[in-house]
Amino acid sequence: EMPLLEECYNLLDFEAVARRVMKKTAWAYYSSAADDEITLRENRSAFHRIWFRPRILVDVEKVDFSTTMLGTPCSIPFYVTATALGKLGHVEGEVVLTRAAHKHNVIQMIPTLASCAFDEIVDAAAPGQVQWLQLYVNKDRAITQRIVQHAERRGCKGLFITVDAPQLGRREKDMRTKFTEQGSNVQSGQKVDTSQGAARAISSFIDPSLSWDDIPWFRSITKMPIVLKGVQRVEDVVRAVEAGVQGVVLSNHGGRQLDFARSAVEVLAETMPVLRELGLEDKIEIYVDGGVRRATDILKALCLGARGVGIGRPFLYAMSAYGQAGVERAMQLLKDEMEMGMRLIGARSIAELNASMVDARSLFNH
Ligand code: FNR
Repeated sequence: EMPLLEECYNLLDFEAVARRVMKKTAWAYYSSAADDEITLRENRSAFHRIWFRPRILVDVEKVDFSTTMLGTPCSIPFYVTATALGKLGHVEGEVVLTRAAHKHNVIQMIPTLASCAFDEIVDAAAPGQVQWLQLYVNKDRAITQRIVQHAERRGCKGLFITVDAPQLGRREKDMRTKFTEQGSNVQSGQKVDTSQGAARAISSFIDPSLSWDDIPWFRSITKMPIVLKGVQRVEDVVRAVEAGVQGVVLSNHGGRQLDFARSAVEVLAETMPVLRELGLEDKIEIYVDGGVRRATDILKALCLGARGVGIGRPFLYAMSAYGQAGVERAMQLLKDEMEMGMRLIGARSIAELNASMVDARSLFNH
């Protein structure tokens, strides 16, 4: 009844299977987005407004799409972004993603709200495997400091501070399924209100007073590169450079926070010309996430100036439907697509991708 893994030919196929086989509460939590889910859909449709301008007659017999992100090498310019509550989809939770990421030499971002304990996820990594920490900042800064410094001691290579969630968005699909904390052992011991869905149940510790004034403190407690995750306008990218952080993730949190937030690629196209004009383009690494489902999406983002892209739901769906083998196949499919995409666009390496290879004029005019 359920399609064989070999019958999944792209990342969207995993979503279709997951929708059928996942528990209702898990599907609702993973797939839901804020309010009318306009931004969720826009994350896909923005990519549909970017077209390629391939170069011809380039010798593309050999293509190499390996790169570095925050100074560490990886096989392909995407990473597994942080998504909470991995055990809703798979009994073993986030460690499944860790093992698949290792097989493919892909970087994994560990969520604060993982179902597995942080140490369990680090222990599941192979020697030398690169992991980053996603941080929700606790109202109790002593807790936050402990989490950050513990992650650094355990070898995490980047600190991604989520800045788009002073309050968790309203995800009505999630609220309707009456989440009951099953599969969630995060923040245990805290009293949670489960009547508002999974997201809200687990997020009451997040500090809505977090501000730019806190950034120097983060720089003082860790040597990890700091990246602000959830930046949505060029002015804030410039401010992030001034604040001395190493990167930003242009992101609307997979459409789960502010509905009618713009897509990350649109913000990217707004950002890069300004950074170039100010001579800041080499001062910060720009990542994007939201709606990346094809290697052509990755190529578009990189042509427009991104260092790398984050991918969330597709790996959750692959994991929920097929476990580690599913996640590995999803990653392999992206690599296969990437090799072909590089050849067809006429680029032999990531360094050869540039803005002349895309036509993004209709990105803003729609
Ligand atoms: C997320 N995301 C997220 N982000 C974050 O900073 N902390 C978190 O705990 C979570 N949790 C989370 C759970 C689920 C189920 C989803 C789908 C997403 C947002 C995530 O890191 C990323 O921004 C989006 O998932 C990217 O969009 P796609 O790839 O899912 O379309």
